[in-house]
Amino acid sequence: MTFDLTGRVALVTGAGQGVGAGVAHALAAQGATVVVNDLSAERAGVVVDELVEAGASATAAVADVTDLTAVSAMVGQIERTVGPVDVLVNNAGLPAEGIRLRQFRDTTLEDWEPLLRLNLYAVLHCCHAVVAGMCDRGWGRLVTISSEAGRMGSGIGLSLYGAGKAAAVGFSRNLAREVAGSGVTVNCLSLGTIWREGVDEERLARPYPIGRLGRAADVAAAVVFLASEEAAWVTGQTIPVNGGIHTS
Ligand SMILES: NC(=O)c1ccc[n+]([C@@H]2O[C@H](COP(=O)([O-])OP(=O)(O)OC[C@H]3O[C@@H](n4cnc5c(N)ncnc54)[C@H](O)[C@@H]3O)[C@@H](O)[C@H]2O)c1
Repeated sequence: MTFDLTGRVALVTGAGQGVGAGVAHALAAQGATVVVNDLSAERAGVVVDELVEAGASATAAVADVTDLTAVSAMVGQIERTVGPVDVLVNNAGLPAEGIRLRQFRDTTLEDWEPLLRLNLYAVLHCCHAVVAGMCDRGWGRLVTISSEAGRMGSGIGLSLYGAGKAAAVGFSRNLAREVAGSGVTVNCLSLGTIWREGVDEERLARPYPIGRLGRAADVAAAVVFLASEEAAWVTGQTIPVNGGIHTS
């Protein structure tokens, strides 16, 4: 059992930093050619440089995944220059300017659309751009990064974000059944809080039975599994990667 991804092309959205960058590194370490998507050319470029330095094959694809036309153009360009996408990781989900915690009653229509576009529509855009080709070729892996905010209520002002995450999970379950039998699997990961520079880990980790926040590498290991040949019999699932904060 090697989880070898040699010869596979993996597209990771929002991979210019954080979880996506960690996923890009892990997929590359397993032999995949990695396409680093981000809104920021600078951030994507830094990750590509790191990957190439580590001996991997990697390229940047700057595009806003909330824009259907931009996603179609990006995937067309990847197919022409790198090859068809075998593994799609829908990771972009937090706005580049950060997420604003707000009680739903204090929000307006203008607040709803951006979070739903990023957490649901972007997933639809990217899956739609690659799924037919995957089915035709008889192999593909669609992995969407969701959140415990899509599974559990918190009351801290994440209702719109949670709605988008839950919707993407519902979509993935159904798509999994549509394409089952064509060699394409569709799964999600439901993340607990992931460490980032500047967070008060001691305070935030208190509710976590494992006693620490998650790391990008914790998420990346699960993505590598789901992307692998070895995970061929896992589809339509949402795997919690959550430090045991909720058990099921
Ligand atoms: N960080 C956490 O605690 C946490 C917890 C649960 C789930 N998640 C999920 O994990 C995923 C990654 O989170 P993170 O903490 O690494 O995020 P991050 O904010 O560190 O990085 C997100 C990256 O996505 C890019 N991005 C934003 N909008 C984009 C768009 N429209 N098109 C292309 N790129 C875009 C940003 O430029 C940025 O580089 C998200 O789906 C998030 O919802 C994170």
